[in-house]
Amino acid sequence: MVKAPKFLAEISQAGGLRYVLVMTERGQSIVLIGFMGAGKSSSGRALARKTGLACLDTDEIVSKQFGLPVAKIFARFGEEEFRNAETEALRQLSEAGAAIIVTGGGIVLRPENVKMLRQLGGVVSLEADPETLLGRISKRETRPLLQTENPRTTLTELLRCRTPLYHAAADFRLDTSRLTPREVADAILKWTKEL
Ligand code: S3P
Repeated sequence: MVKAPKFLAEISQAGGLRYVLVMTERGQSIVLIGFMGAGKSSSGRALARKTGLACLDTDEIVSKQFGLPVAKIFARFGEEEFRNAETEALRQLSEAGAAIIVTGGGIVLRPENVKMLRQLGGVVSLEADPETLLGRISKRETRPLLQTENPRTTLTELLRCRTPLYHAAADFRLDTSRLTPREVADAILKWTKEL
């Protein structure tokens, strides 16, 4: 496991604790990575509420840029165009201050993305068992990569390729299978305070 960044919990605020993040070597954000259905978006929102930091989501940035939902971007322009825009979104985030950064599940596919993610701050890999991921994902039809004849097989294959990438990029790993978004946020904040 790589050297973790330092965060300092400070001033309390209405609606929850506000965390002032202290990092010298890297950025001051908390970056959430992980497979589709790992709970990045919901936990990111919970973290933002608890810390008072803004929640910035690369999928949302790309979607706004195209004026289309992610599935439509894949359908009209293809995955490569989406990935280019995703990398560009990360570049833009490097200019922003401390935030909770939520990423798309494929962000770790490009080594240049991983480099930028780690520059942004502490990288947390959210993980869950395949059944949990499948259960969460099947509730929404917004994931173009899983619109296949056999989503279970696709998920298994994607997970096999990506898991080592998530692990290599992360400072901290958390199994969210049996946690609520609020519990995930608490576990991440506990980690930041233990550093
Ligand atoms: C993708 C995950 C999606 C989105 C796009 C591609 C992936 O984000 O970026 O559909 O390659 O795993 P979520 O992880 O938020 O579903």
